[in-house]
Amino acid sequence: MNQPVKADVATLNIPAYVKHQKLINWVAEVAALAKPDSIYWCDGSQSEYDHLCALMVEGGTMKKLNDAKRPNSYLACSDPSDVARVEDRTFICSEKKEDAGPTNHWMEPAVMRTTLNGLFDGCMRGRTMYVVPFSMGPLGSPIAHIGIELSDSPYVAVNMRIMTRMGKAVYDVLGTDGEFVPCVHSVGAPLEAGQKDVAWPCNATKYIVHFPETREIWSYGSGYGGNALLGKKCFALRIASTMGRDQGWLAEHMLILGVESPEGKKHYVAAAFPSACGKTNFAMLIPPKGFEGWKVTTIGDDIAWIKPGKDGRLYAINPEAGYFGVAPGTNTRTNSNCMASMNENTIFTNVALTDDGDVWWEGLTKEAPAHLIDWQGKDWTPEIAKETGRKAAHPNARFTVAATQNPVIDPAWDDPAGVPISAFIFGGRRSTTVPLVTEARNWVEGVYMAATMGSETTAAAAGQMGVVRRDPFAMLPFMGYNMSDYFQHWLNVGEKIQQAGAALPKIYCVNWFRTDAEGKFVWPGFGDNMRVLKWMLDRIEGQTTGVENIFGVSPQFADLKWDGIEFTQEQFDTITSIDKAAWETELKLHSELFEKLHYRLPQALQTTKEQLQSRLNG
Ligand code: GTP
Ligand code: SPV
Ligand code: MN
Repeated sequence: MNQPVKADVATLNIPAYVKHQKLINWVAEVAALAKPDSIYWCDGSQSEYDHLCALMVEGGTMKKLNDAKRPNSYLACSDPSDVARVEDRTFICSEKKEDAGPTNHWMEPAVMRTTLNGLFDGCMRGRTMYVVPFSMGPLGSPIAHIGIELSDSPYVAVNMRIMTRMGKAVYDVLGTDGEFVPCVHSVGAPLEAGQKDVAWPCNATKYIVHFPETREIWSYGSGYGGNALLGKKCFALRIASTMGRDQGWLAEHMLILGVESPEGKKHYVAAAFPSACGKTNFAMLIPPKGFEGWKVTTIGDDIAWIKPGKDGRLYAINPEAGYFGVAPGTNTRTNSNCMASMNENTIFTNVALTDDGDVWWEGLTKEAPAHLIDWQGKDWTPEIAKETGRKAAHPNARFTVAATQNPVIDPAWDDPAGVPISAFIFGGRRSTTVPLVTEARNWVEGVYMAATMGSETTAAAAGQMGVVRRDPFAMLPFMGYNMSDYFQHWLNVGEKIQQAGAALPKIYCVNWFRTDAEGKFVWPGFGDNMRVLKWMLDRIEGQTTGVENIFGVSPQFADLKWDGIEFTQEQFDTITSIDKAAWETELKLHSELFEKLHYRLPQALQTTKEQLQSRLNG
């Protein structure tokens, strides 16, 4: 591997295999602005990964976990102020404000560039700038897109190696003039000569900026997750959604799973749930007792790129190569696949450290260990927690693992052709109002369901937790353009499928999170979500009927397979009932959303709302 070498801007330290002059010029430009001490070109090798992790252990950013318990794994703990995505600091800087739309923060590109130039001037002083080449999607495949992230965070470099196809092979694909999305990232914490670094450098000022027309990403001030791993939300969702709008495809906040019946019939479905609402778990679902012979396999757990195939159907790929999953709540009972995937070679961020050098988080075991070091490096005991309410792991603590460590990875997960999608599922976190499962009667009604989806906010984003907000398509924080145009794009995609004479995927709305009077989840969730999935497959295969309700079609108690579980008709009723008063209120919230999105809102959605209102009145 090439060791970090002191390089001034004139000697960029360019490896011989990089032959792309435009890329070299851009690296030189950013280096001249940010003024790093050195430039290091990542090759993606294991030795490089090990070396960077060792550097971070030395510098205090990471701890090496007990190799006997968790081989080749690390714990990183962030600054307490840098723990989640910062939606209010995220900007879409399109030329025209209306192209960003009312759900995005917008700033005039020229003004933003002036701001960024000021912030980035000298921001990497005292640090190494890593050049991180990555492919979203299989390397060299026609559906894949390449990005280069320049970052002064080694934590970003090693996480990108797990989350994307990262390494020098990317330059072979790029050649001398291939296209790439330039991604510039700085933690915004320059070091003066002799100044000692902190474990997790970051800056109170944060900017997560996208220029959709020039397909550029600039991120400043945060080292955490989606703020800093720019291939993920910034590229694969915000920039890719605008590419998809222009080119006739979709970039979605969706998991993709394969489900095979005991008879060997296989379908693929894609599901959009907002952040920390169950995608990773659903993607790795373990069929419950009573579903022997059923198999669920994972294509992806967070992002789907979906394109029409020659046969008119929609085909989906997972542009990522790893999972950046929520740790709290994950355990062997709710999802042993998820646990197994992080047995080794895992980076944990903001979980607690056990006395024997392993990790722990709320929900991992019924009983907490007697003593831990919490995510902020403080002593933690169950007694302290009881007194103070202090969590051992941050609620948005995460694990980073390669997709290939998932024991139920689908054989086609890496197939550049993608997998055909039979159904789309949309689901929010709603303690009330929204029933367990509803099927849209047609594409437009499905788009309406997705567009008006509400969900209680989670720890995945900085800000208040547990407040219901509209999160259209689970894309509110990830839309790269005008939300109303996006709705129209979905309507257009449906029309094209129909024109091609292909079967439209069915669209479902689900809610695993309804609670009882004590605030407990009524639906067991996790593996038992298979029961709902099976009903959907039965519907797709035309093997079961449903009942019409005001906003779609839903199963009756007897339509679901209940083998292996005690679940009563009464319990079923509490999570499937449609309360008229609650839906009156819900529809007002739909109206509020539509008022906000009024400009360019497709008429078909207004009409659907009016029909829903009149069914509710009737
Ligand atoms: P992002 O990575 O933020 O996009 O999240 P995600 O949608 O992949 O969510 P994930 O599967 O990581 O789940 C988030 C939290 O919800 C975890 O604490 C899970 O344990 C919990 N969870 C997941 N599925 C279910 C379910 O079916 N029922 C209940 N009650 N909780 C669930
Ligand atoms: C989400 O918040 O939806 C995530 C985690 O998947 S992050 O990559 O931080 O955005
Ligand atoms: Mn996500």
